[in-house]
Amino acid sequence: MANLTGKKILLGITGSIAAYKAAFLVRLLIKAGAEVQVLMTKAGAGFISPLTLSTLSKRPVYSDISSEESWNNHVEMGLWADAMVVAPLTAASLAKMALGISDNVITATYLSARCPVFFAPAMDLDMWRHPSTRENVRRLQAFGNHLIPVGHGELASGLVGEGRMAEPEEIVEHLRRFWAKAQSLAGRKIVITAGPTYEPIDPVRFIGNRSSGKMGVALADAAARRGAEVTLILGPSGLSPREDSVKLLRVQTAIEMHQAARDAFQGADIGILAAAVADYRPQEAAAQKIKKTGETLHLELVKNPDIAANLGQEKKPGQLLVGFALETENELANARSKLEKKNFDLIVLNSLQDEGAGFNYDTNKITILGKDNKIRKFELKSKTAVAGDILDEVAALS
Ligand code: PMT
Repeated sequence: MANLTGKKILLGITGSIAAYKAAFLVRLLIKAGAEVQVLMTKAGAGFISPLTLSTLSKRPVYSDISSEESWNNHVEMGLWADAMVVAPLTAASLAKMALGISDNVITATYLSARCPVFFAPAMDLDMWRHPSTRENVRRLQAFGNHLIPVGHGELASGLVGEGRMAEPEEIVEHLRRFWAKAQSLAGRKIVITAGPTYEPIDPVRFIGNRSSGKMGVALADAAARRGAEVTLILGPSGLSPREDSVKLLRVQTAIEMHQAARDAFQGADIGILAAAVADYRPQEAAAQKIKKTGETLHLELVKNPDIAANLGQEKKPGQLLVGFALETENELANARSKLEKKNFDLIVLNSLQDEGAGFNYDTNKITILGKDNKIRKFELKSKTAVAGDILDEVAALS
C-alpha cells in the first residue's frame, strides 16, 4: 500500500464540531510522510485553535482571505498541492464550492487548485438528506472531486443517522488508496473516441445525434490522471479535457474519426470507444444550401465505416479494446453480441431505459460485460466516477 511520503496536502477545515478531529488528521497525515498546509474558515477556527494546528503541521495556518499573506498565497497553494482535502466540510461551504463562491480562503483556494480535491462532509442528518445538499454533492463529484463518504452514528444534535465526518484514519486510507490507484495506467497509451459525429447534408445542415462528449472526456481526464498517455478523438462538442496532458484531436465526421482512430490505435495499448458514431451519412453533401422547393426531399444515405469493428479486426496481441453499447431494449443480449462481433475485450452497456443514463447527463448507469461472461452492474453515478469504474476494469485486464 502506497504511503504518503512527500505528498503535499492542503487541509481545509470549515466550521463544524467535527473540526476537533482535524488535529488527529494532521498528525496521521504527517506520520504517513505528508506535508500539510492547514486552511481554516473563521467558523472553523472557532471550533479548534489555529495554534494547535500550526504546531502539529509546523506551518502557519491561513484563515483570513483578506490578510496579505493569505491573499497572495491562495493561488500559489492551489498549485503547490498534490491534493486538497476539505474535512470537515459543512453544508454551507459545500454549497459555496458547488457554486464557485470564493469568499473565504478555502473556497478561493479550491477554485485555484489543479490537484485532486477530496471532501469529507459533516452535518446533521436532515441537512445531509436535503435535496440541495444531495445536488451540491453531485455537482462536486461531477466536477471530478472525490467524496469521502459520511459515517452513520450519533450526531452532535443528538440524532442518530448519516452525516458524521469520516474518521481521520478512513480519510488517510482513502488518500492512500487513491494514490495506489493513481498510477495504475502509468505509461499506457490510450486512444478514446467521444462525442457525436456530424454528417453534412449541405453547408448548414447535418445528420448528428445527442451525444455531448461528456462520457469520453471524463474517461480521457481520468486516464490522464492515472498516468496514461491519452489521445482523445472528439467529435463536435463544446467540451475540452481539463487535463493538459490529453492530446486532443477534434473531428467532425465518422470518416475523419475513423482515420484518426486507426492512426492512433496502431501505436496504442488500449482503445476505448465511447463515441456515438453516425451509422450512415448522406452519399453526397450538397455544395450549396438546399432550397425548399418540393414537398419531399430524398436523401441517399450510405454506410459509414464501423470504427470499432475495424479496430477489433486490426487488434494485435497485447492490445485491449473497450466498446460501449447504447441500448433501448434487450440490453444484455445486444451488448454481448456487439462484444463478440466487434472483438471487444470489455463492453460498457448504458441503457436509455435508465433515468439519468446516456446522452448529455452528468451521470451514467453502466453494466460492464467481459469475454469471460462476467457481468458487473454499477449504480447511477457521475460520469467522472463511472470513468473511474471503467478504468479499474481496464487496469485489471492490462
Ligand atoms: O457523450 P455523452 O452525452 O456523455 O453520452 C455518452 C454515450 C451515451 C454516447 C456513451 O456512453 C455511449 O454509449 N457511446 C456509444 C454509443 C453508440 O453509438 O453505441 P452503439 O451501440 O451504436 O455502438 C457500439 C460501439 O461501436 C460503440 O463503442 C461505438 O463507439 C462503436 N461504433 C459504432 C458505430 C460506428 N460506425 N463506429 C463505432 O466505432
